[in-house]
Amino acid sequence: MITIVGCGPGADDYLTMAAQSAIDQADVLVGAPRLLELRKSGAVVKIAVTAHIDDALEKIGKHHAGNRRIAVLVTGDPGIFSLARRVIKAFGLENCRVIPGISSVQTAFARIGLNWNDARILSAHHELPDIDALDIESTTKMAVLSGRDDVLQWLQQLVARLNNRVTLFACENLTLDNETISELSTADLTDRSFSSRCVFLVIRKDQSI
Ligand SMILES: C[S@@+](CC[C@H](N)C(=O)[O-])C[C@H]1O[C@@H](n2cnc3c(N)ncnc32)[C@H](O)[C@@H]1O
Repeated sequence: MITIVGCGPGADDYLTMAAQSAIDQADVLVGAPRLLELRKSGAVVKIAVTAHIDDALEKIGKHHAGNRRIAVLVTGDPGIFSLARRVIKAFGLENCRVIPGISSVQTAFARIGLNWNDARILSAHHELPDIDALDIESTTKMAVLSGRDDVLQWLQQLVARLNNRVTLFACENLTLDNETISELSTADLTDRSFSSRCVFLVIRKDQSI
């Protein structure tokens, strides 16, 4: 069985007990090197996932064929821009189970005390978000997962397109010791640098906070 484990945004106390128990029971742990380092377990085999995801899938396949218990660790929740989709597609849902985790998006909205019922979640991890002008106009809350430097320029253009009718927040290193939540001016997008672990929230000014 392959268990895809949502590990939360980083801090141990944001890891659910179900996630910890899946990690404890695994023979094989798979994940980004940082996650493998962070999540202690007795698993003897560890597979680091790099940009070459197919290599990791091939290694998972070998252990899966040998009936090993495999835990694939992902940050936050597996349902938000994670490896889960690739793993389920490769091995079939009947061979996978998914343990939800606390997402960085959830945490970011919790930090500013705003609901996220109607939020649009976009990723700038591999490429800039693909969202058309109509969608931008109709969306009241956006969470943008960072990952690329040019996302700052993209955000600047977005704010300009919305005639500055939005408030912008940077939620960096959520749950970690160096967590910071800042309200940004558009100038900050050119003058400041941001952690690679950052969720930008773009909130229409008419939404109550
Ligand atoms: C590949 S996506 C994974 C998202 C994840 N599945 C989730 O639910 O949070 C990675 C992005 O998540 C965000 N992220 C993950 N952990 C974070 C943290 N501790 N603080 C801020 N952002 C974080 C960053 O935007 C990062 O570029």
